[in-house]
Amino acid sequence: MGTTRHPESTSHPIAERPRITVVGVGYLGATHAVCMAALGFDVLGVDVDERKVAELAAGRVPFFEPGLQAKLSEMLATGRLAFTTEFDEAARFGDVHFVCVGTPQAGDSDAADLAFVDQAFEALASRIDRRALLVGKSTVPIGTAERLTRMVRERSPIGDRLELAWNPEFLREGFAVEDTLHPDRLVFGVASEWAERQLRAVYAPILAQGTPLVVADLPTAELVKVAANSFLATKISYINAMAEVCEATGADVDLLAAALSHDARIGGRFLKPGLGFGGGCLPKDIRAFAHRAEELGVGEAVAFLHQVDDINTRRRLRMVDLVRELAGGDLDGARIAALGAAFKPDSDDVRDAPALDVARMLSLEGAHVVVYDPEANANAHRAYPDLDYVDSLAEAVTDADVVALLTEWREFGEADPEALGELVGRRRIVDGRHALDADAYRGAGWEFRALGRPAPRRSVVPAPA
Ligand SMILES: NC(=O)c1ccc[n+]([C@@H]2O[C@H](COP(=O)([O-])OP(=O)(O)OC[C@H]3O[C@@H](n4cnc5c(N)ncnc54)[C@H](O)[C@@H]3O)[C@@H](O)[C@H]2O)c1
Repeated sequence: MGTTRHPESTSHPIAERPRITVVGVGYLGATHAVCMAALGFDVLGVDVDERKVAELAAGRVPFFEPGLQAKLSEMLATGRLAFTTEFDEAARFGDVHFVCVGTPQAGDSDAADLAFVDQAFEALASRIDRRALLVGKSTVPIGTAERLTRMVRERSPIGDRLELAWNPEFLREGFAVEDTLHPDRLVFGVASEWAERQLRAVYAPILAQGTPLVVADLPTAELVKVAANSFLATKISYINAMAEVCEATGADVDLLAAALSHDARIGGRFLKPGLGFGGGCLPKDIRAFAHRAEELGVGEAVAFLHQVDDINTRRRLRMVDLVRELAGGDLDGARIAALGAAFKPDSDDVRDAPALDVARMLSLEGAHVVVYDPEANANAHRAYPDLDYVDSLAEAVTDADVVALLTEWREFGEADPEALGELVGRRRIVDGRHALDADAYRGAGWEFRALGRPAPRRSVVPAPA
């Protein structure tokens, strides 16, 4: 570990119970702020979005995340948690400042757009006038922390007494509270012993649970996050590539995945075939990683990530093909029930959501698409106002020519095929998430298709002699 020592590195007292600010209170930051308060810290959440701050301060989580609403109310009531738009207040308040702002894909390339990160670090650095630690949690390209360290010290009235660390975040939407309070591991990217000790003080309650900790340098900490997401994306695209092969041969990708998963070296998690990955992390993170690797002259090492991305995109096109096939070869005028819009169940996040992308493509081919998502209708409507949104599963499927399952919400898996069959125009369904019982649907008279699974009666393509 490269340690930058200066007179106060070891002598300056560590705040045993540091006061924490969380800058950027979106999916990651709001969860982090609430959970830090739940661990007993005094926390101030900061955001430039006045509406979001007002909602949170009034006790309302502005997005859907199971368990977060109750915890927010509980923490506001303790008086340990508050929200503001004022950076001056944040600079005065915090000993440790977590930066959790967005790093979306740039408008004109695969690179990450670091404008929000730069603004947040700059806003803090120019105001903080006592020793403090700035901790990046946003997912960033390798080398960002080094660059920011220089920028922060130039801008700071206290120079290099303002330190910077990176602490990548691995929470999953839908399990964000649980993942924050009980993470698989913690990673600290630090440049001094003081920074490490300060982070240890913040995470003391979590480390006390026996949570594994990896203390690393700044670039390794940045790389851990994009490497982890690349691995997960690759595993999903791997089984979806096998699904493509299955489609060409009459083999069944679900049986294949089951057989592979019994090999402990492979394992079954993230080996689920279907419509692929989406959301505000995996797609943009693998693109930004490949882009950054090219800049660093090691583009070839991760060139496979382009294939991973392409396989993922092809699943969406294939889903449209299957729906078109069931609709009789032409989508024009067909009524399609799109079940789901969020990129995954238990979230209302529609960023790069495969479900919404498929719904949009069906609509572009002239289908009348009726979308129902238990939580994401409002966000989906903002993203694609042209689609029809309804408030129940029953409304969505009524008179449908084809039902397309696009996000595997529990409600859809639990629906009764017989009861749904009474509502639809035609009993035809495409299961884009391998979440339904094919036999139960076929038994109820449905024409049932799933990505990578043979249609009944389809015979295996014989290998050439
Ligand atoms: N969402 C996840 O599951 C997750 C998991 C791990 C890591 N991450 C990473 O965390 C980061 C944030 O992701 P998110 O999903 O929470 O995004 P988000 O869009 O939900 O939240 C980002 C927030 O930052 C605020 N913001 C922007 N500029 C700001 C500034 N200058 N000062 C203060 N606030 C500012 C925005 O108003 C917004 O509320 C990204 O880098 C993402 O890749 C996200």
